Amino acid sequence: MIQIAPSILSANFAALGHDIALVERGGADLIHVDVMDGHFVPNITIGPVVVRAVKRVATKPLDVHLMIEAPDRYIADFVKAGADMVSVHVEAVPHLHRTVELIKSLGAKAGVVLNPATPAAALEAIAPDVDFVLVMSVNPGFGGQAFIRHSLDKVRRVRDLLTRAGSSAPIEIDGGIDLSNVAEVVAAGASILVAGNAIFGTPDAEGATRALRAAAAGSRAGSPA
Ligand code: DX5
Ligand code: ZN
Repeated sequence: MIQIAPSILSANFAALGHDIALVERGGADLIHVDVMDGHFVPNITIGPVVVRAVKRVATKPLDVHLMIEAPDRYIADFVKAGADMVSVHVEAVPHLHRTVELIKSLGAKAGVVLNPATPAAALEAIAPDVDFVLVMSVNPGFGGQAFIRHSLDKVRRVRDLLTRAGSSAPIEIDGGIDLSNVAEVVAAGASILVAGNAIFGTPDAEGATRALRAAAAGSRAGSPA
């Protein structure tokens, strides 16, 4: 199953409810929320207060991507605010197993994120415990960056590693996803597709969401969805 997760980082923050309704009409499966603290990444975005506001208007689950130092301090706040999925960077967390268990104990799905320079092997010991893996295909911090091509190989390696660990956890990919590469990332093994600029950077976010799904589905012609 392919899931389209528009990233509201590129939406109009003065009209988030409107923009979320547009992508939901276009068939979005998840709403991707990028949380940045100005320390782990060189940008500051939103916190639990905004997640709570988004939760009131979104009808799809909230996929909250934490790009922050010491995420354990804030995970409960984000889940209380309405996060259905919470992902943390392996580079930001010293006790990853504890953090993953914390997310799950609060009733959310737990994801772990790999930066472009972090090898798939960093997942080796945590693979059986995660609900999903997020492969970054740009360096986190900003929307609208160019897709890093060797992320395709990372996705394949993560898929192999999860399979060897007996896990069918989905792989999410985030950064520079657009109509030109969505088929390739799906063929490599990603099934949750984040897109910010390719959706909200267009005049028709609803149509762009639909087009991305169609392009992703096309790549799976002949294989089970
Ligand atoms: C980058 C964020 C992404 C970003 C993707 O740090 O994690 O979710 O919004 O935006 P695009 O699709 O524009 O690369
Ligand atoms: Zn993200």
